[in-house]
Amino acid sequence: MTKTLINSILHKPINNTPIWLMRQAGRYLPEYRQLRSKAGSFMDLCTNPELATKVTLQPLHRFNLDAAILFSDILVIPDAMGLGLHFVENEGPKFSKKITTVEDIDNLDISNIINKLSYVFNTIKNVKAELSPNIPLIGFSGSPFTLACYMLEGGSSTDYVTVKKWLFNNPEASHRLLNKISQAVILYLNAQIEAGADVVMLFDSWGGVLSENAYLEFSLPYLQKILDAVKKEHNEVIIPNIVFTKGGGLWLTHMAKTQTNALGLDWTINIANAKKVITSTVGLQGNLDPVVLAVGDKSSIKKEVVRILNAYANANNGNISGHVFNLGHGVLPITNPDHVSYLVDIVHELSAKM
Ligand code: CP3
Repeated sequence: MTKTLINSILHKPINNTPIWLMRQAGRYLPEYRQLRSKAGSFMDLCTNPELATKVTLQPLHRFNLDAAILFSDILVIPDAMGLGLHFVENEGPKFSKKITTVEDIDNLDISNIINKLSYVFNTIKNVKAELSPNIPLIGFSGSPFTLACYMLEGGSSTDYVTVKKWLFNNPEASHRLLNKISQAVILYLNAQIEAGADVVMLFDSWGGVLSENAYLEFSLPYLQKILDAVKKEHNEVIIPNIVFTKGGGLWLTHMAKTQTNALGLDWTINIANAKKVITSTVGLQGNLDPVVLAVGDKSSIKKEVVRILNAYANANNGNISGHVFNLGHGVLPITNPDHVSYLVDIVHELSAKM
């Protein structure tokens, strides 16, 4: 059983650089759009293990990807805490209940969270039964800070004014909320691992909107708390974890000290510089600009792949191991699936010759 992705994260010898893509299952795939319209809504897809399994596996039927990622959303945790998640067409996620007072935070109920999210664990079990044994399944959660952004803003935000108002004016209550979310995330990720997830990833999508000071107070300590408590092994097999703070390029040295197995990079940082500032045992995941994949022609995609593969290997004494190729953020819906296929194959082909 050769799981190239896990071997690369753990800096073991590999024949080629592994690749998967954030949002590899999604609207750029016609078969996704078809199943989604049959299901009714995005949440109907997520909460139905049979359909969520199909969607998880859709990109693996098309492309030679080195991992599957559970089809779900980071916002199912606040939903299970009682906030009532729904998605409004072209507007994104919305909660029926918003947190506006300290009492709202204290009333959030995490006692039954694992039962309420049982559909996720059932999806994981179904996917594992169908997935080839050399392809790992990535489980995931949002980071406490990123989940708090949605919970306090009531949905997506462009300026993060409401969440920052809480952080600056009411740090004690903010820490209570972040602690509560962390407890839920720990239970959630450990249950995903018990259900069969081979790797777990924390998406800190909005940590990068903070000042360094605020990041070190409100995001990183909670990532650390989760990393300390998440299972590192299951049935005597190592379960690596990955931490991704979008916009976190300036803080990689701090992030590497969490002892995570790998750090996700967006596209703004040169992967060679990232490699130089982190502990040598930490893997790196990224860092192609998703817009290159969405609007670039094959030659510009290839040029960027060559640049990233070379930058990593040059900074790692010519060795490709320790790198997981990915985008710096999710696949955009306008992306041509043929270009995804091209990207996956060219990463394998070029890295195998290095
Ligand atoms: O990566 C994958 O293929 C696995 C599935 C996955 C989804 N969301 C499916 C999804 C994962 C890992 C996520 C994580 C997620 N969700 C994040 C962290 C990663 C990131 O993108 O920064 C965040 C911030 C969310 C919150 C979220 N979910 C928003 C803001 C939206 C609306 C905007 C959008 O892209 O539509 C979603 C919806 C969502 N999550 C879709 C998918 C496939 C689109 C739903 C649809 O309309 O069909």
